[in-house]
Amino acid sequence: MSQASIESVSRESRVFPPQADFARDARVGTRQAYDEMHRRSLEDPDGFWLELARELHWFRAPTQGLDWSGAPHAKWFADGTTNLAYNCLDRHLGPSASGLAGPNKAALIFEGEPGDVQVLTYRQLHREVCRFSNVLGKLGVEKGDRVAIYMGMVPEAVIAMLACARIGAVHTVIFGGFAAEAVRDRVNDAQAKVVVTQDGAWRRGQVVPLKENVDRALAETPGVRHTVVLRRTGNPVAMEPGRDHFWHDVIESVSAKHEAAQLDAEHPLFILYTSGTTGKPKGVLHTTGGYMVGTYATSRYVFDLQPNDTYWCTADVGWVTGHSYIAYGPLANGATCMLYEGAPNHPDPGRFWSIIERHGVSILYTAPTAIRAFVKWGDRYPMAHDLSSLRLLGTVGEPINPEAWMWYRRVIGNERCPIVDTWWQTETGAMMMTPLPGAIATKPGSCCVPFFGVSAKVLREDGTEAGPNEGGLLVVDRPWPSMMRTVWGDDQRFADTYWSRFPGLYFTGDGARRDEDGYFWVMGRVDDVVNVAGHRLGTAEVESALVAHRSVAEAAVVGRPDALKGQALVAFVTVKAGELPTKELKALLLEHVAQEIGKFARPDDIRFTDTLPKTRSGKIMRRLLKEVASGGEVKGDMTTLEDLSVLAKLRADDE
Ligand code: PRX
Repeated sequence: MSQASIESVSRESRVFPPQADFARDARVGTRQAYDEMHRRSLEDPDGFWLELARELHWFRAPTQGLDWSGAPHAKWFADGTTNLAYNCLDRHLGPSASGLAGPNKAALIFEGEPGDVQVLTYRQLHREVCRFSNVLGKLGVEKGDRVAIYMGMVPEAVIAMLACARIGAVHTVIFGGFAAEAVRDRVNDAQAKVVVTQDGAWRRGQVVPLKENVDRALAETPGVRHTVVLRRTGNPVAMEPGRDHFWHDVIESVSAKHEAAQLDAEHPLFILYTSGTTGKPKGVLHTTGGYMVGTYATSRYVFDLQPNDTYWCTADVGWVTGHSYIAYGPLANGATCMLYEGAPNHPDPGRFWSIIERHGVSILYTAPTAIRAFVKWGDRYPMAHDLSSLRLLGTVGEPINPEAWMWYRRVIGNERCPIVDTWWQTETGAMMMTPLPGAIATKPGSCCVPFFGVSAKVLREDGTEAGPNEGGLLVVDRPWPSMMRTVWGDDQRFADTYWSRFPGLYFTGDGARRDEDGYFWVMGRVDDVVNVAGHRLGTAEVESALVAHRSVAEAAVVGRPDALKGQALVAFVTVKAGELPTKELKALLLEHVAQEIGKFARPDDIRFTDTLPKTRSGKIMRRLLKEVASGGEVKGDMTTLEDLSVLAKLRADDE
């Protein structure tokens, strides 16, 4: 990034006002109504949020909103006690006439990749969560203990999360695409006592051997006492007596009665690891009350959830979107949630559209990388299905290119469904900028306006506010309920990463511009973090994995634009003396990264080089590598480059 401002090249001018019929029935139906609510949320944040909080169940109702006396550590609703699982389940078990879901409403509609379907009503989900809460209790899990959940997209993953929340244990969900080493590091960092997993997960007709990975990880995780293993794929697994228990065995021996723990609003809810600019992932910590109110409110207003909706978020439970918008937010609203286990193109690229048609999905929330894949696979797949049940579309995870947005609107939404492009982060817990579908005119590629209680700004490097359409750094300048509370075990890193760039302001790490109408356009990360197919990766993590290989001396990993994945990784690698930069080594290194982190982190290309471009102080000049990797012209300041000939060599290698 240059020292001045960030150049923004997007010049999108299309505008789509909310449809009158959608706006008529929406919770917020005019721009004016949004403006008034947003103004109130900033003028009287405590009053605004306490009112929303009171829509939920508290054992002791909070009388305080924000406590910012320990900044940058916020407390919200600190004198209240509640339970998020209670709010997602027990609260709905009353008669549906009360405006809540009612016990017989479907909570989860699960479709496995092989085609099996299972529906769990709120009553049934409650029962399963109570039972699993008792299982965790029996295995010695106490309030505050950490439980790792390393599973695929099955109802039991949601059940395990809710059971942790119910007893006050802190879950850390580890994405099922991570390899054993990544599992080990997260389990150890969180000091988890119990790991919940499954024999295997279905993915494109193949079995992902989750238990086998856990076995490898657990060879080096001294703190883990027990595992619970769900049978899903039926592949043989090794079970260590005393340590490993099958889900179906342990669940048999417990009662279905369980009373939800009464937890302080600031009781830790979960740790979710996310990439930063160093090799070590950050354990983002969220707590109970603020996160609950934030995900509840955003689900309610942004998805405009109505009693008859069937809502589908296609994210994985291993990422924050799966936490906030598969599990907690929609269930706290009593919604019916679709859960799909497998790949979007199994057995063919029409799978998503077939699911929408068969289950009558009315709200679809997915990612730009998926949308670009659908565009590539062709219109004939969605066209072959009746998608008329859809009434609202959403996207999240990375900037969406206007043409993909237009395709989404035309081919999937039949030009009648509003699109909510929601900008937020693992750290923010809930959506921060988004249109409200009945109130805000949308522009393709823009995440539009701040949600209630959110005040965002685009700043220049020197901290002054950028002018209209001038690119800069995106910050949030006041606390919000669902904000992260700290980095697990590394509070200093929390302060350094988010609160030191502009003292007193939350720095997002994203570049953005705000247009003449006040709409935000997020351009992506400005740090060494890349977004590959919606997976947020620190390039430093991939570099550490490469350097861990015995043949590698040094590695620098950068992102380059990719039509499908948004960004792709290119690794520049120098080998140790005596090693040869062969094709075989390239293949080995790619496999090595897949082993260390997971297949999704495997670079698209590895380029061997004798030296890397460095500054005189020895810092790798990733900016130059980025330009080389993108095949573009290498411009900008090179005066700090120690050895100019390095660049010529790199480019010669390119040809
Ligand atoms: O760069 C932004 C991008 O994804 C980052 C957050 O990634 P993660 O913590 O993994 O959470 C993803 C799901 C919330 C952001 O810093 N990002 C996310 N949503 C958008 C986005 N960029 C542009 N537009 C979005 N709607």
